[in-house]
Amino acid sequence: MRVALKLMVVFLGLLVTVLALEGWLRLRREREVVERDIAHEQRLLGRALRPSVRAALRDDDLVAAQEVLHVAQEGEAEVGIRLVDLGPTGLGAPPSVALGLTGRGEREVTYVDRSSSPGIVYTYVPLGGDAPATAIELAESLEKAETRIRHGTMGLLWTTLAVAFGPASLAVLVGNWLVGRPVRQLVAHTEQIAAGSLDVLPRLHRRDEIGLLHSAIAKMVDRLREARAETERETEARLEAERRLRHGERLAAVGTLAAGVAHELGTPLQVVGGRARMIEEAKETPDGLRRHARIVRTEAKRMERIVRSLLSLSRPRHSVRRPVAMGTVVTEVVEHLSPNAEKAGVVIEAEVGEAATVLGDRDHLAQLLTNLVQNGVQAMPAGGRLQVSLSRCGALEPPPDVPPHERYLRIDVRDQGVGIPPELQDEIFDPFFTTKDVGQGTGLGLSVAFVIAREHEGWIALESSPGEGTTLSVLVPVAPEEAA
Ligand SMILES: Nc1ncnc2c1ncn2[C@@H]1O[C@H](COP(=O)(O)OP(=O)(O)OP(=O)(O)O)[C@@H](O)[C@H]1O
Ligand SMILES: [Mg+2]
Repeated sequence: MRVALKLMVVFLGLLVTVLALEGWLRLRREREVVERDIAHEQRLLGRALRPSVRAALRDDDLVAAQEVLHVAQEGEAEVGIRLVDLGPTGLGAPPSVALGLTGRGEREVTYVDRSSSPGIVYTYVPLGGDAPATAIELAESLEKAETRIRHGTMGLLWTTLAVAFGPASLAVLVGNWLVGRPVRQLVAHTEQIAAGSLDVLPRLHRRDEIGLLHSAIAKMVDRLREARAETERETEARLEAERRLRHGERLAAVGTLAAGVAHELGTPLQVVGGRARMIEEAKETPDGLRRHARIVRTEAKRMERIVRSLLSLSRPRHSVRRPVAMGTVVTEVVEHLSPNAEKAGVVIEAEVGEAATVLGDRDHLAQLLTNLVQNGVQAMPAGGRLQVSLSRCGALEPPPDVPPHERYLRIDVRDQGVGIPPELQDEIFDPFFTTKDVGQGTGLGLSVAFVIAREHEGWIALESSPGEGTTLSVLVPVAPEEAA
């Protein structure tokens, strides 16, 4: 049950109890007053009749005495008047009254008979004098008076109840509107908050306690929302850091393993390649064999390339650090790759803008760029345009495992190729991840690019829309003397 209603029921319960008590007391009081009035009137009447009756009886004229009482009776229809004998025979009056009257001279006695409801008031007026044992009995029923009193009291009771119920109902309605409804709304909102929904609370323009409670809840929701956003941000950052750490660890593990294998394979591969070239170039070699020897040499070359890539994955960081003019590197790489790209219908455009110097390893940086440009060209089997552009930017927030710098050089490699589906975007930097056919790709190009970028305290950002193209951006700090 609602609070306002409970208060109302308690209040009305008390009111009804008080009214019932008051009604009962009033009834009793009224009844006493009425009894007293009736008795008083009966005594007055008795006294008025007494001389005439006494005179008639003195003359032994009982008929005349009765006649006096009869006449009086006609005037007072509600009062029964008769003569009673108080003698030892006990005629008429109740014995207790008879006894009570003995020796009282002319003093009247009133007696209320309550053996039946609502009762009868009897008054005995002794004649005294010559007829000490005779009295005039006046009897009047309390019924009419009782009915009148009860009606009056009930009327008053109902009026009081109506007067109390009206304001009480109004109080319930107003209480519900002012307190019940907003509290219910707040409870509903609190339940939503408990269920995890942190929507903004609707405004409530009130300055009372409800308004204070509302603004306290609204503040709590704001704090919770901020805390949740903060937790989500931290979780996201932690996951990202873990992912990068795992990636770095994986690269390091692969690099260590690959370095051993590559080292062992390097020399034999060179021998195989060299021997194949000797067979290919010998004059006495038949044409068929020469073709086979060329295939062996080409494949040995490919394997050497793979071995080199593997070795570069395990390369110690900060190997060589010299100022490198990136504009020149870009131009050279583009010139070097353009002929093959054009065969595939791809036009490479370079926009070097103002020159920027990076402190690092020129060959490695060229390797990084080559890997990205090659990927771009390969992503456009039907041809297209590939843009390489250089730009400078200020301080950026690097990934967690990269130290921050004040100024960066940004190299964007933008293609119009097939794009990279979102679910693969996290994997493309993993060693040996490739979507290309066997023999077409080793899946090491981007891993090597990743390692080289880290070598230069930089990183690679990716933006790709499947079907529209991809932009891979290398961000490396510019050389300190140039940045200064
Ligand atoms: N510009 C790009 N557009 C679309 N997909 C790309 C692009 N660059 C990389 N990829 C995807 O990422 C994968 C990994 O690239 P990565 O350069 O590491 O290896 P690869 O190109 O397959 O082989 P390789 O070792 O010869 O470079 C590719 O197989 C390709 O699916
Ligand atoms: Mg590649």
